[in-house]
Amino acid sequence: MFWSQTIPVMPPMLRSHMRELKIAPSILAADFANLGASVAEVADVVDMLHVDVMDGHFVPNLTIGMPVIAALRRVTDLPFDCHLMTTNAIDYLPALAEAGATHVTVHAEVYQDPTPVVALAAELGLTVGIAINPITPPEAIAPFVEDVTMLLVMSVEPGFGGQTFIEAVLPKVETLRKLVDSQGLGTDIEIDGGISPANTRRVWDAGANVLVAGSAVFAADDPVAAVMKMRAAIT
Ligand code: DX5
Ligand code: ZN
Repeated sequence: MFWSQTIPVMPPMLRSHMRELKIAPSILAADFANLGASVAEVADVVDMLHVDVMDGHFVPNLTIGMPVIAALRRVTDLPFDCHLMTTNAIDYLPALAEAGATHVTVHAEVYQDPTPVVALAAELGLTVGIAINPITPPEAIAPFVEDVTMLLVMSVEPGFGGQTFIEAVLPKVETLRKLVDSQGLGTDIEIDGGISPANTRRVWDAGANVLVAGSAVFAADDPVAAVMKMRAAIT
């Protein structure tokens, strides 16, 4: 039929590459004495801020909580992607929403079934993601892909910035990308830990589209150039 030649039919391979790259710098690597200025410097070239909330129980470290989130909310409109490395994340959702969080990601190692988190977050106007540690299989979160807006694959053990990227998690990203695409969902797949311009292409090709980068952005001499290098890596 003549019209089949004029209507472009996009092959699945190209379709899967239409996903949007989103850069989420982790403020854990920023200069906390000049946090507002550090955020302002990159604000125009990033999609959200990644905020690592740690409780000293789920991970052996303490970091950022509501006062810092509230202070940042007064100086930026960027979405806050709050990564809750805490054993009782659900208890803090109201305070996080009040402080200005827009998204919360909880860990599958804590919430085997995130349904109560998703329900409360919806009431509070927060979107939800679920995270898996390097050792946790993608099957742990597969049943919930439709209920959340983001799947986070940790590419380091959670707890500290500046660690080396664990390449072995990439097959999990591939599995989750296939799952999301096969169901026609727009669920974001985020990768967090040791991400830099050098491995951006690899993690994108595996299927991640939200890239967290702490040290690679905020410890760089030129944070804006570092973000632009990540963007250029996938073109
Ligand atoms: C680690 C945190 C990461 C960390 C990433 O537990 O979840 O978000 O800040 O830092 P880099 O990019 O330096 O590995
Ligand atoms: Zn994180």
